[in-house]
Amino acid sequence: MQQVSLGNTGLMVSRIGLGLAALGRPGYMNLGHARDMADGVSVEAMEARAHRVLDAAWTRGVRYFDAARSYGRAEEFLASWLRSRGIAAEAATVGSKWGYTYTAGWRVDAEVHEVKDLSAAVLARQAAESRSILGAHLDLYQIHSATLESGVLADPAVAAGLAELKNEGVRIGLSVTGPAQAETLRRALEVEWEGSPLFDAVQATWNLLEPSAGAALGAAHAAGMGVVVKEALANGRLTERNQAPEARRTLSALRGEAGRLGTTVDALALAAVLAQPWAHVVLSGAAAERQLAANLGALEAGWDDDAADRLRGMVEAPEAYWAQRGRLRWN
Ligand SMILES: NC(=O)c1ccc[n+]([C@@H]2O[C@H](COP(=O)([O-])OP(=O)(O)OC[C@H]3O[C@@H](n4cnc5c(N)ncnc54)[C@H](OP(=O)(O)O)[C@@H]3O)[C@@H](O)[C@H]2O)c1
Repeated sequence: MQQVSLGNTGLMVSRIGLGLAALGRPGYMNLGHARDMADGVSVEAMEARAHRVLDAAWTRGVRYFDAARSYGRAEEFLASWLRSRGIAAEAATVGSKWGYTYTAGWRVDAEVHEVKDLSAAVLARQAAESRSILGAHLDLYQIHSATLESGVLADPAVAAGLAELKNEGVRIGLSVTGPAQAETLRRALEVEWEGSPLFDAVQATWNLLEPSAGAALGAAHAAGMGVVVKEALANGRLTERNQAPEARRTLSALRGEAGRLGTTVDALALAAVLAQPWAHVVLSGAAAERQLAANLGALEAGWDDDAADRLRGMVEAPEAYWAQRGRLRWN
């Protein structure tokens, strides 16, 4: 798989990376998560599944891995895999995130799955945890779901904590979420520490239903930031798993284009991201090896202008898209 430089970070990434949100804990809000976990959710079973998907990804050339403190044991599973396969720190690029604390206690029916607190105190605690688990493998540390109203981008104690990490060689990023992703990112582009931009990379949602952050991501790319795309499949809504009656027209349009290009619906949606000139790496959120294999079809999917023209009508108003995402059930 083609490897590219993640903006000016000095890190190399594969065009498709693997996100571990669905692999690190028994409950997640992707559409059919429960079905993917049907063969067991003990810690041992989940670690073995995560390792199988990581092995398959590695074999196909995936070299970027995305975790977070709140993804259950994702950091631990990634670290045990890197260790057991003897993968050197320079051979893979690893990003993780701080700001949410996992509170589900390995239960799918937990009342609260994660608690958000973007304070300097949480940064200090979670950075120490992530570094003790991932050691020299931790390349990029991101604010998890920064928003303007959280105030995190204006907090001098957080900026000082991030700068300290940066001085120690960890690249600093933020992930953004919600209908105001673009505004948050544009504000982040202005944040400086001692005269230089603080943020090295951004992780944002961009997909065929919600492309509103595109122009801001172009600006981030032009400014030298690394650009990572998440939720390219709209949490499973852009896959055959989506049986919602209101999605029938969208899925049928996608299926038509996928058929014309000889690929699958999920691969086509990922290929749409790969075709964006500002995208360095797009995350596969595969929960199983067969999903990963289908997702990697994006590399050969041949996204073209006709597909872009015909699928433009799928775009949803950002508020409607994020409201729908907010209704996805943990399973
Ligand atoms: N705020 C943040 O920083 C943030 C937020 C979200 C995600 N992320 C990162 O981005 C990564 C990807 O995001 P995501 O997993 O939320 O969303 P996604 O990539 O939009 O959706 C992935 C889901 O789509 C389904 N899927 C994929 N291929 C499929 C196939 N061939 N057939 C049927 N279903 C298929 C699977 O869900 P089911 O099998 O469960 O249906 C899979 O878990 C995460 O792992 C995480 O690393 C970061």
